[in-house]
Amino acid sequence: MAKDIKSVDYGLEKIFKGAKDFLPLLGTDYVEFYVGNAKQAAHFYKTAFGFQSYAYKGLETGSKDVVSYVLTQDKIKLVLTTPLNSSSQINEHLVKHGDGVKVIALWVDDAQNAWEETTKRGAKSYFEPRTEKDADGEVVRAGVHTYGDTVHVFVERKNYNGIFLPGFKAWESDYNPQSLGLKYVDHMVGNVGWGEMNDWVKWYEDVMGFENFLSFDDSQIHTEYSALMSKVMSNGNGRIKFPINEPAEGKKKSQIEEYLDFYEGPGCQHIAVATDDIISTVRGMRERGVEFLTTPPDTYYMAAPKRLAEHDHKLKEDLETLKSLGIMIDADDEGYLLQIFTRPVEDRPTLFFEIIQRMGAKGFGAGNFKALFESIEREQELRGTL
Ligand code: FE2
Repeated sequence: MAKDIKSVDYGLEKIFKGAKDFLPLLGTDYVEFYVGNAKQAAHFYKTAFGFQSYAYKGLETGSKDVVSYVLTQDKIKLVLTTPLNSSSQINEHLVKHGDGVKVIALWVDDAQNAWEETTKRGAKSYFEPRTEKDADGEVVRAGVHTYGDTVHVFVERKNYNGIFLPGFKAWESDYNPQSLGLKYVDHMVGNVGWGEMNDWVKWYEDVMGFENFLSFDDSQIHTEYSALMSKVMSNGNGRIKFPINEPAEGKKKSQIEEYLDFYEGPGCQHIAVATDDIISTVRGMRERGVEFLTTPPDTYYMAAPKRLAEHDHKLKEDLETLKSLGIMIDADDEGYLLQIFTRPVEDRPTLFFEIIQRMGAKGFGAGNFKALFESIEREQELRGTL
């Protein structure tokens, strides 16, 4: 049964106390995208999102089949990978899914152990533990499959002092747009097929040792036209959060169904990245050409102070400024949060980004779901996919 958002108890430490976490995760290590043109995608993420050049591998470093650009902003690392010939298997992923997230890499202390603990609980191996070395030390990585063609790679880098991974060199660029204050990956959301959400919830529980600490059913997440269901999975220390969505029946096509149609299967729907100053981050992103979903109507902003007051919180930011930038506000008992969603960042209406600033709240903006989905539906209408 879905928990009431107002009474969510994030007692994760209580839940995990006593039971040993068999898969201790230190954080998100990197997110790897397979893209059609990594050079141009890298330029986009530098220019529009304020990512910095970090590492590179390609023909110049002896990588004959793939090129990868690694971008960083505070704790976030994005890897953009493109095949250099038609025989690479990456092409199949690109043909089927378009640009999208292939790898959600998780930072661990012991990759061999992470792979053994998950595969013995039923994870399908993507690749067995392997050690990569260079003059700066060694990295151990291993991978398991999750929903669709997406994979988790466990990365153990405690014996490595080099740039990113063996095989990469530092990427020095003359073009270095200023950072926009993005700090870390807050959560990453997966879209799965009809009726598959609970199977994946169980998979994350049984195989990865995660807990389902928040649920939304279609009575909570719906508009006049469409609906979806969502369950949020978290690891033991709360550093990794994976909401899992599935479509639900509505009068018209769910945005999740639209995603599944265009991604041609389950995959990563959005990456939420945190900032300490969403006003300056979003202002900068807008100036640099990032497209966001349409701003909620005036009535939404008129109601916002009351929604905060119900939880005894007072907005520190100027409401008019938030409204002018289209930033949404949600509150729970512990605090409030500010968030905004980009339009899809590729031509297929698939992956998008969320920018989030947490002011104490630990939720996911449930109070904004309706306004958000109505905004998405206006865009689906234009695409003829509602
Ligand atoms: Fe989100």
